[in-house]
Order: sequence, then structure tokens, then C-alpha cells
Amino acid sequence: EQIEKGGYEHFMLKEIYEQPSAILDTFRGRLLSNEAIIKMVGVEDNMKKFLNANRIIIVACGTSWHAGLVAEYIFEDLARIPVEVEYASEFRYRNPIINENDVVIAISQSGETADTLAAIKLAKSKGAFVFGVCNVVGSSIARETHAGAYTHAGPEIGVASTKAFTTQITVLTLIALRLARAKGTISSSDYRMHLLELELIPEKVKTALESDAYVKTVAAIYKDAKNFLYLGRGYNFPVALEGALKLKEISYIHAEGYPAAEMKHGPIALIDENMPIVVIATKKGHYEKVVSNIQEIKSRSGKIIGIVTVGDEQVKNLADHVIEVPETIESLTPLLTTIPLQLLSYHIALMLGKNVDQPRNLAKAVTVE
Ligand code: G6P
Repeated sequence: EQIEKGGYEHFMLKEIYEQPSAILDTFRGRLLSNEAIIKMVGVEDNMKKFLNANRIIIVACGTSWHAGLVAEYIFEDLARIPVEVEYASEFRYRNPIINENDVVIAISQSGETADTLAAIKLAKSKGAFVFGVCNVVGSSIARETHAGAYTHAGPEIGVASTKAFTTQITVLTLIALRLARAKGTISSSDYRMHLLELELIPEKVKTALESDAYVKTVAAIYKDAKNFLYLGRGYNFPVALEGALKLKEISYIHAEGYPAAEMKHGPIALIDENMPIVVIATKKGHYEKVVSNIQEIKSRSGKIIGIVTVGDEQVKNLADHVIEVPETIESLTPLLTTIPLQLLSYHIALMLGKNVDQPRNLAKAVTVE
């Protein structure tokens, strides 16, 4: 096992650090930026289905569901296709309206999650075209879907999903861009710019990982907090959910993710000097609005941990701590802002003496209902 961990103390840490190469593996052979081409066989072969789709319904569970939420922003923003994101477990039990003009995308790291598998079978029985985004090659979901694209993240052992999440977002971004190009909802210059920016992401993830030592000092300060709040807007709202989930899963600290603007409809009542609040406040993405949310938190003495774009000054002046990530275009910020949140939960859980790779009560793949 020590050998499998490749010198890292835990699988989770290894998998966090593998993200630059995992993301690269995900777009290798698919993203041909010189020719400005995205090549994905499963998408090309079914282009008609995608282009004729009335809407895309994404079904998934857990972290994969969060990747689906990020994808909703990307698909709607770039490809202008309406998207609904459903918990597989809810979808299958509420007599969903679905037909042959719908495209269902099922996202699953393991490819074995029982609820997701059942949702796929239901969608197929109603005539929908079902596309899988799985990590495990030859898994049940990969086999059950009509077509698909693998994430190529390599084996993920840590129960808390890390590199599966960022590679799922990468695959879904490629699909959205490909469809946007085919539909003509993106200009060729914007398309090229997206491809070039995507290509820079592995290096930028590497840079984001350099915050590790600082994140550890932040973890030491807040490890005994009983509650955490994670806030983000737009593309980074799902990242806030995912950050909170990571902390819950492995440290057993109660954490909630919220859209930053919804804070005033409830969570703001929880804020006092004992409440750490992680706010994703990157330059691209409703920055000024998030800054005003931060001011509201500050006036209530909440402790602010800002995830900011490198060189940020405004949030630095307001927050108790800021963790920097490199700059990128808005749609790709989740691939960077996720990194410090993974590290934060890892360090807190470790400091609390928890079993980081195998948290209590959780399974890597939930193959029963
Ligand atoms: C379990 C795992 C999570 C995962 C979820 C969905 O809860 O602990 O890490 O996100 O299942 O799994 P899947 O394999 O379908 O992505």
C-alpha cells in the first residue's frame, strides 16, 4: 500500500496532487488546440442527438452531482442548451417527464452507483439517449449507457472524491465547447480562447497546489470550529457545495455550502466570531457582489477565508486569510478554486486524527439503495 501511495501519506493527498496530470490525461488526444478541434468519438457519433436535444438532464450523486451543477452553467452559457441537474435518487422516484428528445448525461466516478444506474435504466425505458461520464472503464454505468466519455483520471482510492471531480468538469467542458461550436453559439475566437485557456489549466492547478503549506496553517487555526459555511456565486456556487461536502465527509465537521447571495435568507443568522466562512471570490465571476457579501460577513464578526485570484487586494483587506489561485476565464475557475478547498478539508481531518482515506460510514461506491 505504501508503494501505491507513491510517497504520499494518504491516497487522498496523492490524488489531489495528481490533478495536473489527471486533467492533462483527460484532454490528451481530445483537445487539439493547434487545429482548434475537440475530438470525442462518443459525442461525434451522436452529434445529431445532442443538437436536437430539447434539454439535457444530468443525473448523478454526491461529488459527481456537483460536477453536474458546474456543467449546467457551462452547457447553458456556451452551448445554450437548457440543463436540469438531478439527484439520481430523486429523479427515479418522481415519475419524471422525459422523452426521446431528451439527452441524459449520467456522471459517475465508479460507474457502479445504484441510484445512478437505476436512473439510467428509467431514462432509457422512456426513450431518452443516455450518455455516460465515468472514470472506471468497463463499469456497469459505462456499459449501460448508449455512449460516453471516460474521465481518464486513473484509479481513485480515497473515499472523498478529488481528481474525479476536476476531470469530470474537464470532460463536460470539452463536450459543452464541442456542442457550442457545432451549434454556432460560440464565436471561433472565443472558442479558440477557451481551448487555449483549458490547456493552461494543468500548470495552473500545479500553481494552486503551492498554497498547500499556507492552507495547512489556516487549517490549524480553524480545525476546532463546529460549523463552517462555504459561499460562492455562479460557476463557484457548486464549488462551495463541494468544499462543504469534502469537509463533512472526512473531518465530520458540519459544513454548509450556499450561493453567496442566499446567505441573507438564513445562514447569516449563524454568523458570529466563531464561524469560519470560506468565500470564493475570484476576479472573474460577480466579484463586486461577492465583495459586498464579504462586507456583510465582516460586520457580523465572521471569520473570512477568501479564495481569491492572485494579486487580489480588495478581499485581502477584508478577509482574515486569503488563499490565492491563478487567474483564468470564469468558466474554468472551478478547476482552480476547488484545489485549496480539498487541501483545507484534508489538513483539518488529519489534524483531528480522522481516517482521511476511509471516513466512517461512507463507501467509495454506493452499490445499494
Ligand atoms: C459515494 C462516494 C462519493 C461519490 C458518490 C457518487 O458517496 O463516497 O465520493 O461522489 O458516491 O459516486 P460515483 O462513483 O457515482 O461518482
